[in-house]
Amino acid sequence: MKKIAVFTSGGDSPGMNACVRAVVRGGIYKGLEVFGIIRGYNGMIQGNIIPLQSHSVSNTIQKGGTILKSARSKDFMTPEGRKKAFENIQKLGIEGIVAIGGDGTFRGAAEFYKEYGIPTVGCPGTIDNDLYGTDYTIGYDTAINTALDAIDKIRDTADSHDRVFFIEVMGRDSGYIAIACGIAGGAEIVMVPETLMDSDEVASILQAGWNRSKTSSIIVVAEGDEEGNAQEVAEKIKTLLPNQFDIRVSTLGHIQRGGSPTARDRILASRLGLAAVDGLLAGYKNVMAGVINDQIVFTPFEDTFQKDKPISQEMIEMVKILSI
Ligand code: F6P
Repeated sequence: MKKIAVFTSGGDSPGMNACVRAVVRGGIYKGLEVFGIIRGYNGMIQGNIIPLQSHSVSNTIQKGGTILKSARSKDFMTPEGRKKAFENIQKLGIEGIVAIGGDGTFRGAAEFYKEYGIPTVGCPGTIDNDLYGTDYTIGYDTAINTALDAIDKIRDTADSHDRVFFIEVMGRDSGYIAIACGIAGGAEIVMVPETLMDSDEVASILQAGWNRSKTSSIIVVAEGDEEGNAQEVAEKIKTLLPNQFDIRVSTLGHIQRGGSPTARDRILASRLGLAAVDGLLAGYKNVMAGVINDQIVFTPFEDTFQKDKPISQEMIEMVKILSI
């Protein structure tokens, strides 16, 4: 293998640049030519592919976002789109690819491998931490610290005004962000898609806290919770307990996707980027490089998005115990 390419795709996450940097420098260190594909699968289809040198990734390890840009490509979901992408990869003589992204990215990569057999190794880049095959994804640590900083600030004003705050964090299908910053932020309740908690239960926990002289509360709601988003749950509580609480809603949104990556994310990203290059050179294909119990592990793409990575029951239990 002499030429490889790297791209970032799907929702960006802090640390993606550190990962790109590791792929570029790790590849050059091993004697490879490295190309960057701009805007994920869209760039592959449009032939937006550029050579990268060591200096191309200078001064990027501390930057949020992705210097290679990102996209959620609809065209790559079509056989025509993938054919064009393959032709562009072939034209440049690229023999291996490193895909940095989440489940959508790996679904695309698995399909592409099935059709064209280009060896691809993935690096888990998503704030959601919802991929099977790695304990942590690149960007998760930064995102939970960003959300935590916001929760701490909201707690100050919640306490001053004796208010109940519903705070929505990201996670369409996953409660990893919610559970982590809920525990670290001392939330009274955490609502995640992985467990069922309806508004009646939320109301009775709030009521019980009120009876124990709690004057303010924080409820962290994952955006994909089955009971609704933070606004919807707050409305249900207002109906169930009219005039009992002064309720406010705060949706943290895309603030969680940006910012300079934490040390943990930079180190994880650097480690996984180098592992992906080593994996390609060792003949791995159609797999994601992850870290499990501090060891590099390669997991088939299909498993990363098909198998469940459940939130530990211990974490769910912790919220209950620590909020009495
Ligand atoms: O997958 C990462 C993520 O940030 C999810 O938590 C969120 O639901 C989604 O992306 C938002 O996507 P977009 O930026 O395309 O609206």
